[in-house]
Amino acid sequence: MTYEIEMIGIRKEFPGVVANDNIDFAVRKGEIHALVGENGAGKSTLMNVLFGLYQPDAGTIKIRGEEVKFNNNLDSIAKGIGMVHQSFKLVPSFTVAENITLGHEPSKLGFVDKDAVRENVIKISKRFGLKVDPDSRIRDMPVGIQQRVEILKALYLLSDILILDEPTGVLTPQETDELFEVVRSLVATGITVIFITHKFREVMAISDRVTVLRDGKWIGTKDTKDTNPKELARMMVGREVLLRIDKTEANPKEQVLTVENLKVLDNRLQEAVRDVSLSVKAGEILGIAGVEGNGQRELVEGIIGLRTAVAGDIRINGKSITKMSVRQRRDYGISCVPEDRYVRGVALRASLEDNLIIENYDKAPISKGQVLNLKKIAQHASRLISEFDIRTPSSKVIASTLSGGNLQKVVLAREIDARPKLLIVAQPTRGLDVGSIEFVHRRILEARDRGAAVLLVSAELEEVMSLSDRIAVLYEGNIVGTVKGGEATEEELGLMMAGITDEGEDQRDSHSVEQQVSQEV
Ligand SMILES: Nc1ncnc2c1ncn2[C@@H]1O[C@H](COP(=O)(O)OP(=O)(O)OP(=O)(O)O)[C@@H](O)[C@H]1O
Ligand SMILES: [Mg+2]
Repeated sequence: MTYEIEMIGIRKEFPGVVANDNIDFAVRKGEIHALVGENGAGKSTLMNVLFGLYQPDAGTIKIRGEEVKFNNNLDSIAKGIGMVHQSFKLVPSFTVAENITLGHEPSKLGFVDKDAVRENVIKISKRFGLKVDPDSRIRDMPVGIQQRVEILKALYLLSDILILDEPTGVLTPQETDELFEVVRSLVATGITVIFITHKFREVMAISDRVTVLRDGKWIGTKDTKDTNPKELARMMVGREVLLRIDKTEANPKEQVLTVENLKVLDNRLQEAVRDVSLSVKAGEILGIAGVEGNGQRELVEGIIGLRTAVAGDIRINGKSITKMSVRQRRDYGISCVPEDRYVRGVALRASLEDNLIIENYDKAPISKGQVLNLKKIAQHASRLISEFDIRTPSSKVIASTLSGGNLQKVVLAREIDARPKLLIVAQPTRGLDVGSIEFVHRRILEARDRGAAVLLVSAELEEVMSLSDRIAVLYEGNIVGTVKGGEATEEELGLMMAGITDEGEDQRDSHSVEQQVSQEV
């Protein structure tokens, strides 16, 4: 039998790591093949080799039985391969249509034919049932829609083989379902799909076969119907993994965070947080549940000071911080793992060591006066690398060489290690593998038990339910209900997240969303 894709004996080494170690990987025509493995297992590297972005140090690639050698991604595109990358590579200031056709624009008399660009994009958008507005700019769109644009960009070149590197990492469950519909319809037209994910339910729901990598090595390939999440977790991690954590009772103490009648605007100057009051005590986790885009991001940014509160008050241990700068608030004991950590969480071109001291570089023992203590910096990094199991060949490498999940652990390590009074974690386990999720959940609980007030924002209902002592549901910028952690069912929370509360009252209020605030903030 000829495979659509055959990768044989692939080896790829980076300074200090063998990212792919003699991997055999074969994909049948028209199947959905899931590729799973821990953070840093070598999934993205293997796919970058297949896409021609990396040259393997050893091994061969066959497409439809024919041996190929890709010197760059134009070679692989010519063979019908398209790839949607883990971190988006769209141009924020360009429109959807410009992004999709970038580098392959139709031209007329030597100029880009703008009408043809739009028409082509509308055509493929219709053909694949992926709705996008060709004229919107990427920077104004929610990530779920950006993901669609990424996929259309790959499909624009009429790919026969589509590589999706963690396409659901940033999607809501609804968006994920929509994506699955698209993927199924693509496969029905004969396209072959390779799908990288950390979520077992996605593997089980959509794939025909699944391949597991660990530490750069091939561990096994299974028919999805013959395996289960437990077995996959064991193959990935090499040990039994608790798929759910056991949480002890909280022991709440004094009130740390008080938010009163907070109002915060979004980038378009609309009220994203309308009138939110909440409180978090030392030693307790307050979970914020809600469909993404209901003000979560602005609430977090309002509390940490990245956005100005247009009304209301924020207090830490009774002292108002509403007028303080970001830095002052941090010094006052707030740590935050932001949701968009590639942008706000790390300095990609700085070393791991530097990234880990961003918060305390000006304090002893890291520095004395104006002088940095390089030895202490190295020790600090080594300790966090080992405590948080960050997989990297050294603490001196630049952050961008780390795998997606490991980069995230860098931010978590730095923020949790700061021992804040208030720890804010937004989407803390997005993009993490099962073993790391278990680990991060335990660290968040430890921070709570050490006396931190924890504000957890997560789009994963399961995560909110398993970690929170209390859950507040955010809907269109307001908290529509608060429940005790152990007491709410998924259905109840789901209803509240849709704006339907106990009284059967629909909280929607379309007028105030439209309210434009003309003043610059
Ligand atoms: N450009 C690079 N330079 C140096 N090292 C790299 C580079 N790309 C990847 N690596 C290393 O290769 C290993 C495998 O990384 P890869 O990105 O393939 O992992 P992954 O399985 O995709 O992980 P994740 O689930 O976190 O995305 C990691 O140890 C990573 O640090
Ligand atoms: Mg990856």
